[in-house]
Amino acid sequence: MSKCGYQGDKTQVALQDTKQGRNDLFAGIPCRLRAKLVFMAGQNIILGVSGGIAAYKTPELVRRLRDRGAAVQVVMTRSANEFVTETTLQAVSGMPVRTNLWDPQAEAAMGHIELARWADLVLIAPATAEIMARMAAGAAPDLLTTLCLATEAPVVIAPAMNHVMWSHPAVQENRQKLADHGVRILGPEIGDQACGETGPGRMMEPDDIVAAVMAPIVVANVEPPPLAGKTVLITAGPTREALDPVRFISNRSSGKMGYALASAARQAGAEVILVSGPVSVTVPDGVKCINVESAQQMFAATHEHIEGVDIFIAAAAVADYRPANSAEQKIKKTASEMSVELVRAPDILASVAKINNGPFAVGFAAETENLRDYARTKLDKKNLDMIIANLVGENLGFDADENAVEVYWRDGEQSFPMTTKSALAEDLIRLIFERYLEKLTAATQTALPAIAIRD
Ligand code: CTP
Repeated sequence: MSKCGYQGDKTQVALQDTKQGRNDLFAGIPCRLRAKLVFMAGQNIILGVSGGIAAYKTPELVRRLRDRGAAVQVVMTRSANEFVTETTLQAVSGMPVRTNLWDPQAEAAMGHIELARWADLVLIAPATAEIMARMAAGAAPDLLTTLCLATEAPVVIAPAMNHVMWSHPAVQENRQKLADHGVRILGPEIGDQACGETGPGRMMEPDDIVAAVMAPIVVANVEPPPLAGKTVLITAGPTREALDPVRFISNRSSGKMGYALASAARQAGAEVILVSGPVSVTVPDGVKCINVESAQQMFAATHEHIEGVDIFIAAAAVADYRPANSAEQKIKKTASEMSVELVRAPDILASVAKINNGPFAVGFAAETENLRDYARTKLDKKNLDMIIANLVGENLGFDADENAVEVYWRDGEQSFPMTTKSALAEDLIRLIFERYLEKLTAATQTALPAIAIRD
């Protein structure tokens, strides 16, 4: 049997229209337009929890995996117990937690080799430097590492550790070795760490881990998902405008919102193209990503792929200005003062919104005041179909895991209260899809020829 979990009775569970709450991305859409999404339901997942502070997020991860219909068998290392209890993980997973390779009672119920065969996926989150080292060496001193060797299922790890540890050559060598052995590595993300420092080493958020390992699949006999056959192009992240070969002007965008939208659009069945500035977020499964640096490169890559795009979402924080000249060699500090001449960067969103019969154009507006007025002005000035506006400032918007937004279109608006960027992205994709259909319907009606009625 294939180990990918797509086979036979494992694909029977479809998301039900009314029972699944927020898992149903398209609740509220009229029945005639609704379609069912089927995720990798019924998948057997071994969730390995090793001993890092990020282990406190694993009960949430288990819940999210189970929400998607997966059976989750938690396997803890000894040190994981320091950060999260067996009782909690047993309660949320609904299965006794396995901790010991030599537990005769547990082995009698399902031996470790059987358990390794049972799994469709082995996910280790958080993965510490210690467990990565053991895995890279092929060592199997405990149950979790033994399972990693004994399974034929894909192994995915979400590392989490102090950023200096993550950058250590020994850890990087182990990361490379694991990647060469076929282990998929999610993150880590850059951000504030439990130790009070900032850098790469934060475990990817549970929502993003789930999105990365559980891409939706469509099962025969169910309607196609709502955005099936549609192409969505999303710009995300910051741009970098070079001053010289080693310096640039940029901003604090993390790309999280754009990537969350890409993941939600993909889950809704769309072909998704991400044109992304430099970020440290993992590209969601099934999404095509084109990496760029400057606003000019983002403009060129967007226009290269815009033909046939149905929905364009400009989530990138594109530089409005770039240095008029970028020095070919590193600028030396000779003068006591220095000024830089800046010129306007191309407006990607406005240029796409100008295309005749172009895509449904969605922009973002990040403001520090007068949110509604400024956003509505941008909607009109750039001739957009919709604008998503949020307040930015200290701990708001940029580089945060949560966001609250106001959405405006010509004859309507809607508020979305503070929530995780992935939950918000699902809601936004649903609204964008509704408005897109509305525009399509209106356009079809205007295009119908007038029929003269004679007596
Ligand atoms: N945008 C773009 N290309 C640019 C600048 C912005 O595509 N060169 C897009 C952004 O992705 C976002 C929206 O336009 O969707 C933001 O509009 P903009 O007017 O540029 O916002 P601000 O830069 O915040 O403008 P202002 O400083 O005037 O408030």
